[in-house]
Amino acid sequence: MEDKIRYPEIDFFIRNIIKGETGHLKKMEEYARLRHIPIVQAETAALLKVLVNIHRPQRILEAGTAIGYSSGIMAKAMSENGMIDTIEIDEETALLARDNIRELGLQDKIKVIVGDALEIMQCLYSSYDMIFLDAAKGQYNEYFAEAFRLLRPGGLLVSDNVLYKGLVAQSGPVLHKHRTITMKLREYLVELCRSDQLETAVIPIGDGLAVSVKKGEKNE
Ligand SMILES: C[S@@+](CC[C@H](N)C(=O)[O-])C[C@H]1O[C@@H](n2cnc3c(N)ncnc32)[C@H](O)[C@@H]1O
Repeated sequence: MEDKIRYPEIDFFIRNIIKGETGHLKKMEEYARLRHIPIVQAETAALLKVLVNIHRPQRILEAGTAIGYSSGIMAKAMSENGMIDTIEIDEETALLARDNIRELGLQDKIKVIVGDALEIMQCLYSSYDMIFLDAAKGQYNEYFAEAFRLLRPGGLLVSDNVLYKGLVAQSGPVLHKHRTITMKLREYLVELCRSDQLETAVIPIGDGLAVSVKKGEKNE
C-alpha cells in the first residue's frame, strides 16, 4: 500500500539509507511487490527490529501473517529460544508463509496458526511479551481487549496501519469507501492514547505505527 503520510523525499532518503534485507527475505519483498501483497515497509521493518532488540521478547504474537515477512524479520532479531505465534485467515497464504519460513530456516521459531485473529486470540491463554497487530484494520478495536489480556505487564503492543494513508489525521471529509475504517482507527487510537494502563507513541512511519507499553509492576 502506498503511504501518503510523509514527504516523498524523506521516504526516499530513509529507504535508501536503511540496510536492506538479503537472501530469501529480499526475494519475499520482491514477491510481495509484484503481487501487491501488503507487507511492512522498510522503515517499519527497521523499527520492528530495533524494538525486538531493545525489548528482547521471548514470545511474540502476530495477527496477520501474509507471506511471513514481518514474522521472519522479528524472529531473526529474537534470541535463540524466542518463539512467534502468527495468525493468518487465508489458508493458501498461510501455506505460502510456512514455505517461506522453512526457506528462512525459522520453522522451529515461528508457528503459523490458520484462522480469524479475533477468534484465535479468544482461545489463547498464555501470555506474550510483544503483540504485533497487522490483520484486519477494521477489527483493531475488537482485537484490543484480547491483546491487552494476552500481553504481560511491561509488554509491547505494536499496531500497524493506524494512520491509514494519513486519512486518520485528516481534518476534512474522507471518501465514503474509507470512512468506516478511518473512524474505527481514530477510535482505536483514542483508546490506546487515553488508556491509563498503557503508554503509547504514534509514529508516522510506513502507514502509521502505534507502539504501546502495558504498564505493570516494572513501569507503573
Ligand atoms: C498487511 S497483511 C500482513 C503483513 C505481514 N504482517 C507482513 O508485514 O509481512 C494482513 C494479513 O492479514 C490477513 N487477515 C485479514 N483479516 C484477518 C483476520 N480477520 N484474521 C487473521 N488474518 C487476517 C490477510 O489475509 C493478510 O494476509
